[in-house]
Amino acid sequence: MASLSELLAAHRPGHALEREFHLERLVYDQEIKQIWRRSWLFAGFSLQAAAPGEFFRFELGDGSIIVVRGQDGDLRALHNTCRHRGMAVCQEPAGTAKRFVCPYHQWSYGLDGRLLGAGGMEREIDEDGRPLLDPAAYGLPTAPVTEVGGLIYVWPGNEPPQPFEQARASLAAALEPQGLERARIAHSIEYRVRANWKLVWENNRECWHCHLGHPEYIQANFDSAADNERNREAAARREAEHAAVLSEAGLGATTATLAGAEAHGEPGLYQFPTPGYWWSANRTPLVDGFVTESLDGKPVAPLMGSYSGRDVGTLRVRTVPNFWSHASSDHAVVTRLVPAGPEQTRVTVFWLVDREAEQGRDYELERLLPFWQLTSEQDWSLCERNHAGVRSPAYTPGPYSPAREYNVSAFTDWYLQRLGA
Ligand code: FES
Ligand SMILES: [Fe+2]
Repeated sequence: MASLSELLAAHRPGHALEREFHLERLVYDQEIKQIWRRSWLFAGFSLQAAAPGEFFRFELGDGSIIVVRGQDGDLRALHNTCRHRGMAVCQEPAGTAKRFVCPYHQWSYGLDGRLLGAGGMEREIDEDGRPLLDPAAYGLPTAPVTEVGGLIYVWPGNEPPQPFEQARASLAAALEPQGLERARIAHSIEYRVRANWKLVWENNRECWHCHLGHPEYIQANFDSAADNERNREAAARREAEHAAVLSEAGLGATTATLAGAEAHGEPGLYQFPTPGYWWSANRTPLVDGFVTESLDGKPVAPLMGSYSGRDVGTLRVRTVPNFWSHASSDHAVVTRLVPAGPEQTRVTVFWLVDREAEQGRDYELERLLPFWQLTSEQDWSLCERNHAGVRSPAYTPGPYSPAREYNVSAFTDWYLQRLGA
């Protein structure tokens, strides 16, 4: 196999990635090191660690991170590996704890990661009568962690994290009306998608495939407008009408591209990601007759956050490398990715509603789930069939369409830049 620098040098700009990028372990290991260990990763929701002691585990391909709210109200991220002989200290996916006790030899750790006891070993002394262990030196390793608008991000690597402040300002403004910190998870589904994680992103970054691939999604959205003159006119008309509705609702600023806009030289051409901008958010109107992303366009749950009307379109937020979401006035759908080897991606889809909403009374899963469950599963099937084709030794990468796949091209450029950095 070629070396990584040979692979990077051989790539044709504006074209799909060569098959080695999707299949080779050497590339994958480099991605983990250069991208996944050096990015702010979406781990979960503030609501999953709201009260002191509440925690959840965020699984990475190699190891996991415990995200826990301390007694002091601060959120912490602890690498889940015992300072004795390395066992995963926390075996539960989520829960409430006073401390974490390693099941192997009962070393125990506080919610801030400090070593509290070493199963009795803390009382052992050396020949000079001094304690064998300095507990201060044996805390669980911590990871930088931060919250914005109800989302939790962790920095899993050892190097100092990238500043979060610019992203925080944009994301906080975009997410504020959605009220995700006052939401609850109505449902989630975990998928094992047999495709390289980049193919999952490439699929997300264009809607050329929507017309045939997503019969339900295109009923509600204008994404495929560029492919259809009539649709484009309807989209422009709706956009203008909707701008008025939103400005009345005090959501005017969120009609246009919200975040990362500074990096998009050309207004109207919306590109994400771009080097230096790993987050973006914008709001788009839905098709006439749709006030939410449900199969019939009718509400499926009570209003969320600070929305006062239903017609707020869809708030779209994404952060590379592992998060995107679509949120309507009554529910939000969040997708989280984690690579599980070169040829598999673990994808979790979460449906959120207002925390006061009660299943059976205020919403039914039968009405809440189908729109994004169908759309997501259609995408995973496309990704898996894409990956299967890329495995063919006869595969050669073709060109991206500048009109329809500029964001796929932007993703690939961002990826190659991060990989080679
Ligand atoms: S490995 Fe955790 S106590 Fe021994
Ligand atoms: Fe899709």
